[in-house]
Amino acid sequence: MARNWDLIITGGQVFTPSGLVAADVAVAGGTIADIGTLDAARADEVLDAKGLVVLPGVIDTQVHFREPGLEHKEDLESGTRAAVMGGVTAVFEMPNTSPATIDAAALNEKLTRAEGRAWCDHAFFIGAAAENADRLAELERLPGCCGVKIFMGSSTGSLLVHDDDTLRRVLSHGRRRVAVHSEDEVRLRERFELIREGGKVAQHPEWRDVETAVRSTKRVLRLARETGRRIHVLHVTTAEEAPLLAAAKDIATMEVTPQHLTLAAPYCYEELGSFAQMNPPIREARHREALWEAVRLGIVDVIGSDHAPHTREEKKADYPRSPSGMPGVQTLLPLLLDHLNAGKLTLERLVDLTSAGAQRIYNIAGKGRIAVGYDGDFTLVDLKARKTVEHDWLQSKCGWSPFEGKPITGWPVATIIRGHVAMRDDELLGGPTGRPVRFTETLPREGGD
Ligand code: DOR
Repeated sequence: MARNWDLIITGGQVFTPSGLVAADVAVAGGTIADIGTLDAARADEVLDAKGLVVLPGVIDTQVHFREPGLEHKEDLESGTRAAVMGGVTAVFEMPNTSPATIDAAALNEKLTRAEGRAWCDHAFFIGAAAENADRLAELERLPGCCGVKIFMGSSTGSLLVHDDDTLRRVLSHGRRRVAVHSEDEVRLRERFELIREGGKVAQHPEWRDVETAVRSTKRVLRLARETGRRIHVLHVTTAEEAPLLAAAKDIATMEVTPQHLTLAAPYCYEELGSFAQMNPPIREARHREALWEAVRLGIVDVIGSDHAPHTREEKKADYPRSPSGMPGVQTLLPLLLDHLNAGKLTLERLVDLTSAGAQRIYNIAGKGRIAVGYDGDFTLVDLKARKTVEHDWLQSKCGWSPFEGKPITGWPVATIIRGHVAMRDDELLGGPTGRPVRFTETLPREGGD
């Protein structure tokens, strides 16, 4: 019979919408062509997945790749390379670059820079600002845009929208779900005195305290209701916000990060110093356990890494001059697989949090599940592999990870993007072939695809 498939993945346990099934999967022209007991002779390339689980491609919906402007920390090539090595097939990148991504020209500049250099599929957030608030309805629908991001509290970069009037303007212009960094700027400024002189990094969660997060989340929920706009609260860190968000599922979705599910204060600051500093902060174990409970109860919709690289030299500055953020796109899946093996979550929950959840929140077209017609994006995992997070495995330009040396059970062994095997057994294959992610709510790309 004539060959008509580009790739077939044979002999794996495939995570389909009907559950985990022993099946082969065929990809033709970048999309899934068939699932079942298939004839491998019909494919140009055969990938043997015996003993492996074939998951929908992992989507990381919160990364900072620093290009343009801060390429000494990361760039679109190195950041997406780290993603692919960690089993991630698509990323959504944040707007706090330099210049900030607040208009069509800046968004298109990122898309152009990613062409031929991005190892995985990608989309970019438009940052909300007072100067673009009235144009966001148009901006959020540009091809390659995953939506609008609001910084309600200052973090890395200058993007900030914190007064109710501007927030209302932002929320009233557009229809897509808006991603929010939820910390109350007024309280942050009031409390900065606590750490301005001689502050210690262990005080980071005291400066940016529970009330800072809760006050902001209550406020943005109120404004979302008032304006009838759906929101997505990024990197939630407190036990107190989970019930607030559970009571607002009609309008709000919730993200947590692997680092907030793995690390806890005060130990992380004792061990890692300012390398554990991020916004919102890593808090005490009671919050970590509450976030796990929110995962278990289904309140958490998605896991994003908040990959936020800074160089070692920058991180070593005296607190509070040390920048906030840590890399994470490459360790997102290994950490979750390790937690799965420790009984913290099921495979079904992991898939929901790393692919299906992203699709639901952002209305991604053609990704997020293994089904005929969807993109041929897969993350193959060996659930029982025992590995260590090694320095040499890390791809981020920043050259460090808070999880270096950590033993892990469960590992991504292949990353497949639209039928192209981009990583196999910790080796990159071929070149960067990433493309912009498509959404059901954006305008068609000119020239179409
Ligand atoms: O810790 C953080 N770092 N939190 C943010 O919100 C921004 C990020 C960064 O870009 O460095």
